[in-house]
Amino acid sequence: MNFHILTLFPEMVSNGLNTSIIGRAVSAGLLSIEAVNIRDFAFNKHQSVDDYPYGGGAGMLMQAEPVYLAYESVAEKIRQRTAAAEETSDAAGEAAALSEEMADAAGEAAALSEEMADAAKEEKSGKKPRVVYLSPQGSVFDQKMAEELAQEEDLILLCGHYEGIDERVLEEIVTDYVSIGDYVLTGGELPAMVMVDAISRLVPGVLHNDVSAEFESFQDNLLEYPQYSRPEEWHGKKVPPVLLSGHHANIEKWRREQSILRTYERRPDLLEKAELTGKERKWLEE
Ligand code: ADE
Repeated sequence: MNFHILTLFPEMVSNGLNTSIIGRAVSAGLLSIEAVNIRDFAFNKHQSVDDYPYGGGAGMLMQAEPVYLAYESVAEKIRQRTAAAEETSDAAGEAAALSEEMADAAGEAAALSEEMADAAKEEKSGKKPRVVYLSPQGSVFDQKMAEELAQEEDLILLCGHYEGIDERVLEEIVTDYVSIGDYVLTGGELPAMVMVDAISRLVPGVLHNDVSAEFESFQDNLLEYPQYSRPEEWHGKKVPPVLLSGHHANIEKWRREQSILRTYERRPDLLEKAELTGKERKWLEE
């Protein structure tokens, strides 16, 4: 998956996202994270990208044109890559036709090539990249949204600063308005980094253990159960005996109960959306 972050502070995102799991995934080629400096697209000699708002009011606004040009530079790169993929798959398509006339062994390769051709056609169908504008006015980001966005090949994240961005360019390029919570930050960089982190760990291969993305907080609107490691006793606190029993069914049952209890205590709002059995709901009411 390719992230393209349009920002006035590219070093902030580059520095913040090149460590640990995300950094490793970038090195492994599973992700790419490109920080595009909007200031590089300023059209005056002072390289300024902001101006006063018409009608007056506090602060400055980011102007439409540099934001648009920064976006276009990324969109063009995506178009070119898609066109290159199309060419490759056209060639693959021809090979497929040829292969069909050949023996059964080649038939398999043909099927594969046709699949590639179809995928490229779909990409070519003029699909515009998703452009997320980070703003407290957006829909609140959650795990479900992260899962949905993790399906995209490219994601453009637009970070605002000052008092915001000229509305006209937002109308023209933005497909999604996203907030990371009901509070106001000084810019969209931290929210963009939050989104990149949450989405990246859902990309296959980024977490070494795919199971760990499956059974954890929010996956089914339940919080994760408590976990313990060595030693068996620490500060007088013992690891729950069931976890030492080796009895897998009992361990699973205990963990499920702990998840439900924890959600009830810490995030009761989530329980309405959680899929609990009738028995579990009854147990909670007791
Ligand atoms: N920019 C400023 N505050 C924000 C927030 N809460 N979420 C997303 N982008 C923002």
